[in-house]
Amino acid sequence: MSVEQTLSIIKPDGVQKNLIGEIYSRFEKAGLEIVAARMLRLSKQQAEGFYAVHAERPFFKDLVSYMTSGPVMVQALQGEDAIAKNRQIMGATNPAEADKGTIRADFADSIEENIVHGSDAADTAQQEIAFFFGDDGVCERTR
Ligand code: CMP
Repeated sequence: MSVEQTLSIIKPDGVQKNLIGEIYSRFEKAGLEIVAARMLRLSKQQAEGFYAVHAERPFFKDLVSYMTSGPVMVQALQGEDAIAKNRQIMGATNPAEADKGTIRADFADSIEENIVHGSDAADTAQQEIAFFFGDDGVCERTR
């Protein structure tokens, strides 16, 4: 076990459903600390850049359209095994396959609109945190 940081996004459907507090509460109850946060409306260019790894996938255009359809809430989370812990809290990408009690099982309508994003590995977490918060946008927890 080691202390990690990971990138989390509450997507436009999660913000629209007023779930920011509910989702933050789940993070905090699981021992994850929020060390950076911002709300923004992604431009088409930002959404395409963030999801560049999916550029060739058939769902890419719809994904960009969905992610730019309204504001998102973006946060960096910190804690023991934060990457895996956040993915456990979110549940499977497809809400139909997500475990009971996870965010996606409880709130998501479909695999396309699945409420939250979370980094999948240490290298992507680092890249994704830098994408939104630069090199010095994460706040050290001193107490
Ligand atoms: P996310 O974890 O943010 O990573 C890529 C996103 O693409 C995913 O969540 C979904 O919002 C979206 N998506 C749409 N269709 C699919 C699909 N068939 N497989 C995986 N992701 C999909």
